[in-house]
Amino acid sequence: MTEAPKSTADYIARERKYLAQIYKPLSIVLNKGEGVWLWDTEGKKYLDFLSAYSAVSFGHLNQRIKNAVIEQLDRLDVPARAFHTDRLGEFAELICKFTGMDVVQPMNSGAEAVETAVKAARRWGCDVKKIPDGKQRIIVSDGNFHGRTTTIISFSGDADYKRGFGPLTPGFDLIPFGDLDALERAITPDTCAFLTEPIQGEGGILIPPKGWIAKAQEICRKHNVLFMIDEIQTGMARTGKDFCFQYEIERPDGLMLGKALGGGIYPVSAFLARQDVMDVLDVASHGSTFGGNPIAAAIGIEAIKIIQEDKLAERSARLGEHMMRRLSAINSPLIKDVRGKGLLIGMEIDPARASARQVCDKLLEKGLLSKDTHGTVVRFAPPLVIEQDQLDWAADTVAAALSEIQ
Ligand SMILES: Cc1ncc(COP(=O)(O)O)c(C=O)c1O
Repeated sequence: MTEAPKSTADYIARERKYLAQIYKPLSIVLNKGEGVWLWDTEGKKYLDFLSAYSAVSFGHLNQRIKNAVIEQLDRLDVPARAFHTDRLGEFAELICKFTGMDVVQPMNSGAEAVETAVKAARRWGCDVKKIPDGKQRIIVSDGNFHGRTTTIISFSGDADYKRGFGPLTPGFDLIPFGDLDALERAITPDTCAFLTEPIQGEGGILIPPKGWIAKAQEICRKHNVLFMIDEIQTGMARTGKDFCFQYEIERPDGLMLGKALGGGIYPVSAFLARQDVMDVLDVASHGSTFGGNPIAAAIGIEAIKIIQEDKLAERSARLGEHMMRRLSAINSPLIKDVRGKGLLIGMEIDPARASARQVCDKLLEKGLLSKDTHGTVVRFAPPLVIEQDQLDWAADTVAAALSEIQ
């Protein structure tokens, strides 16, 4: 028998004792969520301004997502891809039409979608571009975050993600984020793909120069290199369009989705591609026991329908502009920069005056939940269903918090 914790400190102590210490959560223990709100075990209410790094874009326990799950649980759970199901084709058709891509391979976590992209790119390089197997190279952006598997950390520019985990996977070339000349210089006859986020989320909400995505695609086309975009954090209406790439191009050659595709309830991810790219993945070359199962498919279908029917991209663009205006108007020496697109906003804190973590701790005290990234940036990514007056309260709370950290 385990003893029930009696206080916040007890809950935290139990997690410390029994969990791998790979996260540094804020000192709060949550036990309830609804819409844009979260509650802790002491009954205190908070406005969620992180939405699980964009995974909870529709709000906590969104009723439509919940209904979709419950309906599905009355019929069929997980039969695996050994059989066809009535939901998978429906999900696949909808997500392909929604993204403008030809074909999809459903997975679970974001990292798995990226792994799928890496495998497809390499095999396309081998089978179509005729690069000798083992020589394929993929160009990636410095400061990237694509997940935590051994292959993915192998192309991270962050030494902390890699230390002690060697031997790392070879075949990746890092270039500065947003640098077109560096992209063209890095391409060799062995390059099969350029894989990048359109905005670096974990990297600190870094936004590349305008026109970069379109020009990067042009360069890739010129050299017969696949242009692959990771929209696991920026996709699904987060940045004011259904997908961030839509600001500049019609579609990439490969696309990775995750987070909000799971409706905030369940891990659902996907790798989507051009037909000829996906065609290199044949029977037994890839797979996933849970990927595309009926529950995941039901959730993915409902998530896409909510975005389309509730026009969440327009909402994110409009409310994002409002929030940017409100945050940019805060007069505090602690703020170095405020940047963002849609409802993905980063506030860079002057490290000489405070850490981003200090700001998050102060916001927590005041009932606003967000999280620092890279030590200096506070990430604001509220659920897309948030109301303007709630954003105004958040902006006032940020201003008050900053004024108290002098
Ligand atoms: C851009 C991007 N790609 C991939 C991932 C990895 O997703 P997951 O944690 O679901 O594996 C993340 C997670 O933060 C991300 O932001």
